[in-house]
Amino acid sequence: MLVISLGGSVIWNNGINLDYIKRFRELMDSLKEKVFLVVGGGKTARDYIIMGKSLGFDEYILDQMGITATRLNAMLFITSQTYPKIPQTVDEAIIASQSYKNVVMGGTEPGHTTDAVSLLLAEKLHAKMVINITSVGGIYDHDPTKFKDAKIIRELSYGDAKKMILSKMMEAGLNIPFDLVAIKVAERSGIKIYVVPKDIENIKKVINNEDFKGTVIGIPDR
Ligand code: UTP
Repeated sequence: MLVISLGGSVIWNNGINLDYIKRFRELMDSLKEKVFLVVGGGKTARDYIIMGKSLGFDEYILDQMGITATRLNAMLFITSQTYPKIPQTVDEAIIASQSYKNVVMGGTEPGHTTDAVSLLLAEKLHAKMVINITSVGGIYDHDPTKFKDAKIIRELSYGDAKKMILSKMMEAGLNIPFDLVAIKVAERSGIKIYVVPKDIENIKKVINNEDFKGTVIGIPDR
């Protein structure tokens, strides 16, 4: 089985990326493995969170708005081979997978992002990897959208990933598309996270254990 986390920015990039959504749906259905896809909120989540903030909503409601956006985005990936509802919890996703080849979902509860959901799902399934698809396509030493000389980091330990997340809170420019909850779950269960660009052929290489473009989190500490 495969657990895949798809960042919301991948499906919305200066307008909805319909061609990519179609190709991704085909990929999911063509794979022999059972697929658990967790979709992020992207622009829809951001827009609603900005509006909610301006209206003075608390963080809990803002997170709930974000979750609703992730579930709406997830619906775009329902196919004839997928559980026809969006599971609200990791447990519901697992029960649904007993009757359907694929399951797509968004967020679950306030306090973390869909990255954490994908790791919790992998933990419960005893999966040893999660494929995390982002528009940036890996983890860089600087923000590659701002710095031309930014270099991709091919491998990171959980410890280094945690340090990067914590320093990102203080230092603008570092780019790590993860929340701390996700890394902690990955670490406690030894789940590797493959952070990759949206390129479908490259995703197939990760699945087939071939050389791929991107970053893997979860190598032993040096
Ligand atoms: P995302 O997972 O898309 O978060 O959820 P993100 O990291 O901000 O976006 P990407 O990965 O860069 O695309 C959108 C928002 O929904 C809420 C959070 O507010 C999050 O920022 N959310 C999501 C939750 O509160 N719980 C969840 O389980 C998932």
